[in-house]
Amino acid sequence: MDELQLIEPSHPVATIPSGNVPEPTEKGKVFVETYGCQMNVSDSEVMLGVLQTAGYSAATRVEEADIVLLNTCAIREHAEDRVMGRLSQLSQLKMSRPDMILGVCGCMAKHLSEKLLDRVPYVDLVLGPDSYRDLARLVQDAVDEPALDVKLGRTETYVGLDPIRKVGVNAWITVMRGCDKFCTFCIVPYVRGRERSVSADEVLRQVRIAAQEGFQEVTLLGQTVNSYNDGTTNFSNLLRQVALVEGIQRIRFTSPHPSDFSSELIETMASEGKICPFIHLPLQSGSDAVLSAMKRSYSSNDFLKLVDDLRAAIPGLALSTDVIVGFPGESREDFEQTLGMMRQVRFDSAFMFKYSERDGTVAGREIPETVSEVEKGERLTELITIQSEISLEMNQAYLGREVEVLVEGAAKRVGQMSGKTDTFKTIVFEGDAEANAFVNVRVSDCTQKTLIGKVV
Ligand code: 5AD
Ligand code: SF4
Repeated sequence: MDELQLIEPSHPVATIPSGNVPEPTEKGKVFVETYGCQMNVSDSEVMLGVLQTAGYSAATRVEEADIVLLNTCAIREHAEDRVMGRLSQLSQLKMSRPDMILGVCGCMAKHLSEKLLDRVPYVDLVLGPDSYRDLARLVQDAVDEPALDVKLGRTETYVGLDPIRKVGVNAWITVMRGCDKFCTFCIVPYVRGRERSVSADEVLRQVRIAAQEGFQEVTLLGQTVNSYNDGTTNFSNLLRQVALVEGIQRIRFTSPHPSDFSSELIETMASEGKICPFIHLPLQSGSDAVLSAMKRSYSSNDFLKLVDDLRAAIPGLALSTDVIVGFPGESREDFEQTLGMMRQVRFDSAFMFKYSERDGTVAGREIPETVSEVEKGERLTELITIQSEISLEMNQAYLGREVEVLVEGAAKRVGQMSGKTDTFKTIVFEGDAEANAFVNVRVSDCTQKTLIGKVV
């Protein structure tokens, strides 16, 4: 989705609750597998919360579940292909246990709707991202015949529903849903509907619950999170109020739209110590012609000016971005302008994608593809090569420095721990540390993806 960064694109995440796990009941066990962005992770937590309230319990493995729900992504064709592959795997399980309810939820469910039931006839349930309030009833309906609900609600923000959060140190807090920007390449406005903000009262209620559960870090989520406005509170005010919640030490948000980055927000980030100095700021392209065809509503110069203002106001700020290569009409010169922007901005990291035509979008309907798959692949490789060098250099700037780390847990290598700096860099380190604690670590080495160090 826009602007929301992808979670580990190659690894679906099983949402296994951290606490409050109810005793198994006769209602059965549910397994939710999440694809795509953090918004989906957050939605899966709401789904589990709804089902728990209705008396279901969480399964830890798909094989033991009575209900299997895939929470899916539609952002690129590849995302949908992966879910199709997973469904074909799950058909075996469904064959051996015909009573199992198999559901496809989220963006791909909304995108394909009835077509999904035709293409995958053993699916029992197809639910769009706004249908989870009624999840328990819809699951019951699906016992008798396949159930489909892909209506988008103009006002649904899941107020009052309590998510069951995944084990970890960060709590996702959805503050706005949907998108009104209609970038020409993007399917999000069609599958997630119009923009709407969660009331500040509800956001604060969610943050307080997360703090009571022991989370010290929250990430406020929205497709264009900085256009948040519930009628009385704008995004800067919201951040300031969240910062007052006792127990919350680190506040992140994702993803802002460059055009909605107000000077008030820059000032808020600069002055509120709990807001982490890290921004995921999607660029998409460095060419003004392509940005305009994408309907991104900023020029390359606007973007550079914003980066300058941000860096001037927030010392040590880290930036990441999203870039698409091979948008229809992107010439070699356009692409080189993107390379030039990457060299000029020097993002700490970037998510880089080949353009994938999505039906229903303006580009899908009206802008014929001009860049071959081979050419897209070559441009992507070139971009990744340059960004990898920049990422390494950005990390090398940390060598010798002491950083504050929120510990996430044991690293893959035995005896080492892993966590995040306030600039959202993953750091692997030696020394005594417990999960969910803050420690100071001296950086002694790095790769382009990871800092390496020792507790001081
Ligand atoms: N093709 C390729 N990438 C896309 N994105 C969104 N739509 C498409 C598409 N049709 C990317 C954008 C967005 C990120 C989450 O996914 O870069 O910011
Ligand atoms: Fe982001 Fe544009 Fe998609 Fe909205 S339409 S989610 S702003 S890329």
